[in-house]
Amino acid sequence: MTPKKTKTTKPTRRPTSDRAEPGAKVALVTGGAKRVGAAIALRLAEAGYDVAITYNSSAAEAAKVVRAIEALGRRALAIRVDFAKAGCAEAVYRAFTRRFDRLDALVNNASTFAPSPLASVERRDFDANMAVNAVAPLMLIQKFAPMLRAHYDPADPASTGRVVNFIDIHVLGQPLKGYVAYNASKAALHEVTMTLALELAPSITVNAIAPGVVAWAESYTAAQREAYMRRVPLARPGTPADAAAAVLFLVHDAHYCTGQVIRLDGGRWLT
Ligand SMILES: NC(=O)c1ccc[n+]([C@@H]2O[C@H](COP(=O)([O-])OP(=O)(O)OC[C@H]3O[C@@H](n4cnc5c(N)ncnc54)[C@H](OP(=O)(O)O)[C@@H]3O)[C@@H](O)[C@H]2O)c1
Repeated sequence: MTPKKTKTTKPTRRPTSDRAEPGAKVALVTGGAKRVGAAIALRLAEAGYDVAITYNSSAAEAAKVVRAIEALGRRALAIRVDFAKAGCAEAVYRAFTRRFDRLDALVNNASTFAPSPLASVERRDFDANMAVNAVAPLMLIQKFAPMLRAHYDPADPASTGRVVNFIDIHVLGQPLKGYVAYNASKAALHEVTMTLALELAPSITVNAIAPGVVAWAESYTAAQREAYMRRVPLARPGTPADAAAAVLFLVHDAHYCTGQVIRLDGGRWLT
C-alpha cells in the first residue's frame, strides 16, 4: 500500500524569531494600535523595521497590529502607557529596552483631540493636551536620544537617528476654531521639533508632519467634512497610507532633512 501523502499547507506567515536580525533597524511608533499609527507601524515593518508600538485603551487593536507585523517576519512589541501621566517616558523606555537593544526611529504619533471652546475650557483640559501632545513626545525624545544616536557614523548619512513628530496643519497659521488647548499643544510640539532639530544635529534628525485630514475624526459631521473638502486642491481626503508614506520618507530616505515640516493636506494650505 502506498503511504498517504501528508497534506502540506502553505505557511501564511514567515517564521519569526525573537532574535534580532543583525543590523535590523527598530522603530517605535506611539499610538500605533489604530488609524494613522497602525498604518505607520505596518509600513515600517514592510520596509524591514522591527516595530514597537504604544497604546493606551486599544489593547485588542494593538495585539492585532503586533500579529500583522510578526506575519511580515519582523519583531513586534506593544507597550501600554498613558501619556497623560508623569513618568510615562521612563515606563516606555523600560519596557522597550527589555526587548530591543537599539532604536533608529521614534514616531510621536499618539495624540489627544477634543474641542475646548473658550467659554468652557478649564486648566485641566489645557494641561492634559500639553501632557499628551507636547510633553510626552519631548520626554520620549530625551529618554531615547542616546539610543537614537548610538549608531551614528558621520561617513554614513543613513545612520542618523530619526524623530518624526505629528503636529497639525492648523497650527501653522490657520488655527482650528474652538480647539485652543489642542492647537496650543501642537504648536508647542512644533517648537519642540525645531529646537531639538538644532540641539540633536548632526546625529539625529527631527522633523514634523502636519496633516490636514488623513483620517476623519469620528466627531466630524458630514457637513463639516464637506465644508473642509471644498478647499482641498487634490480633491480627496488624505489617508493613513499617505501619512505612513511621508513617515517612511523621513525615516528611511530624507538623510539631509531636519527641522522640516511636511504639510500633508492635499494643498489645502494654499487655498
Ligand atoms: N487624523 C487626521 O486627519 C489628523 C489631522 C491632523 C493631525 N493629525 C495628527 O496625526 C496623528 C495621528 O492621527 P490619528 O487621527 O490617527 O490620531 P488619534 O486616532 O486621534 O490618536 C492616536 C492614538 O493616540 C493614543 N492616545 C490618545 N491619548 C493617549 C494617552 N493619554 N496616552 C497614550 N496614548 C494616547 C490613542 O491610543 P489608544 O487608542 O490605545 O487609546 C489613539 O489611538 C495625531 O498626532 C494627530 O494629532 C491627524
